[in-house]
Amino acid sequence: MRLNKYLASSGVASRRKCDDLIKAGRVSVNERTVTEPWFDLDPGRDAVEVEGKPIEWLPDRVYLLLNKPAGVITTVSDPQGRATVLSLLGGAFKERRLYPVGRLDADTTGALLLTDDGELAHRLTHPRYESSKEYSVLLEREVSGEDVERLRQGILLEDGWVTPDSIRLKKPDLVVLTLHEGRKRIVKRMFSSLGYTVVELHRRRFGGLSADDLPDGSWRELSLEEANRLRESVGLEPIA
Ligand code: URA
Repeated sequence: MRLNKYLASSGVASRRKCDDLIKAGRVSVNERTVTEPWFDLDPGRDAVEVEGKPIEWLPDRVYLLLNKPAGVITTVSDPQGRATVLSLLGGAFKERRLYPVGRLDADTTGALLLTDDGELAHRLTHPRYESSKEYSVLLEREVSGEDVERLRQGILLEDGWVTPDSIRLKKPDLVVLTLHEGRKRIVKRMFSSLGYTVVELHRRRFGGLSADDLPDGSWRELSLEEANRLRESVGLEPIA
């Protein structure tokens, strides 16, 4: 197995960050520094360390689906001591290095995946594989039919076009749209460009998974089948 894959699969960091760690000379195999991310090793026999800390081979990964409440930030830790999505786990899986997959704004609610499957997290957030996300968007006023049509045709933001996969008006001031994009504040920026303010933003689905049956702030583990469906959706082998 390649060294970068070993590190990402063991929850050290995303595959890209693992490449950087290796190239920076911070990783050793059997006490010798290795700087090639593609270095081939035997997970059961070789001893891998990052800056002298042994990295255990963790073939079993954790996949959690969280119903993120408002007021919680999507980071692993916060220097200002604010509540993070990881603090909602109440200490569960604290020995694992779980990462949120992508980011929801502090005031956005809904489906958020947490995992230590570095390769899956990397692919789910990579523009090439960007998975589908469905949002429910409550606005401060009714949306005109013309503006729904403008949104459907695509909006030019300062970082490029964004075109929803689907969009429908559920109520005069409530829009449901599906995007493959994961750029920062993308939904709010789309509406703001047409002069609307988003009052509530809720992610109804991420990669086909809905967290709406979970109470606010609670989470569940994905089934093996759900985890494998996600992995296969981004071209990864199913796990055993
Ligand atoms: N788009 C936004 O504007 N905010 C989010 O949290 C997610 C998508």
